[in-house]
Amino acid sequence: MRVLGIETSCDETGVAIYDSEQGLLADALYSQVAMHTEYGGVVPELASRDHVRKLLPLIREVLSTANLTLADLDAVAYTAGPGLIGALMVGASTGRALALGLGIPAIAVHHMEGHLLAPMLEERPPAFPFVALLVSGGHTQLVRVDAIGEYQLLGESLDDAAGEAFDKAAKMLGLEYPGGPLIARLAEQGDRSRFRFPRPMTDRPGLDFSFSGLKTFTLNTADSCRDAAGKIDPQTMADIAAAFEDAVVDTLAIKCRRALRETGLKQLIIAGGVSANRRLRARLEEMVAAEKSHLYYARPAFCTDNGAMIAYAGCQRLLAGQQSDLTILARPRWPM
Ligand code: KG4
Ligand code: ZN
Repeated sequence: MRVLGIETSCDETGVAIYDSEQGLLADALYSQVAMHTEYGGVVPELASRDHVRKLLPLIREVLSTANLTLADLDAVAYTAGPGLIGALMVGASTGRALALGLGIPAIAVHHMEGHLLAPMLEERPPAFPFVALLVSGGHTQLVRVDAIGEYQLLGESLDDAAGEAFDKAAKMLGLEYPGGPLIARLAEQGDRSRFRFPRPMTDRPGLDFSFSGLKTFTLNTADSCRDAAGKIDPQTMADIAAAFEDAVVDTLAIKCRRALRETGLKQLIIAGGVSANRRLRARLEEMVAAEKSHLYYARPAFCTDNGAMIAYAGCQRLLAGQQSDLTILARPRWPM
């Protein structure tokens, strides 16, 4: 079974071909980040237009890399949501039209299910059941995963997602969009003991998160360090970035440990853009070792948005006997 995967939910156009026997055959990505950086965030209208411009060339590129033609495809999987509606519509209509023209099934994939299954594309994939921490720009969720499609939400952010908090804290420090990787880089030079940020909601039971308070804490700390001209010296910037990163990472680690203990499961997977964070991976490696558990994650390129995870999720759904009808499905809001 050979599935073409299409991802256009936000600011990356991702296309890939996954084969149920041979694995990933080709994968191509075009990031619009440079275009949106100028505006300090994703401009939805520009994102949609750029997906239109890039999607067909990328489909051609993966077919050529895999040495295949359209006739070799067995199904088309596309991200149907959640995401920016205009951006989703580009992938959904192209994917659906391709499937219709080729007379093959189309599968509407949930973007977060794509992220959640991305570690399955690695050499040493986890076996079900496991706990998944989904940490992206739009979501922070702890999920119990028993099988493909069997997901139980254990906890989630009551306000900002972890990635969103990284991006907003970065903006407060005058860094560009997307701020997550920039904060992480800056934090490497930081003195991690200079500031102590709170670990929100860790002192009470439960598996929910709240990150909006950390934004305010970051702003207040930054303001208290500004000179007469409103500038913050580079070392202080790095110290604040390190304190912020440690607070988010620690909070996530505490809740992940709690989720493992409460479910009695011994495997944790992390997925979504923030799972590329090196400090988070290192902290969770320590935690799972102490809990006699195991940690799984995808290569950095498959932590952020990509077509491979959509092709894989679509293939698994199809193997489970599912496909979507002729309606073009695009849902900006869609609970998993
Ligand atoms: O999964 P993703 O590519 O898109 C969404 O579905 O949202 O996640 C993007 C988010 C952004 O907020 C970005 O700042 C964050 O992931 N991110 C990181 C890192 N790399 C990406 N956050 C912290 N550290 C990183 N290394
Ligand atoms: Zn994503």
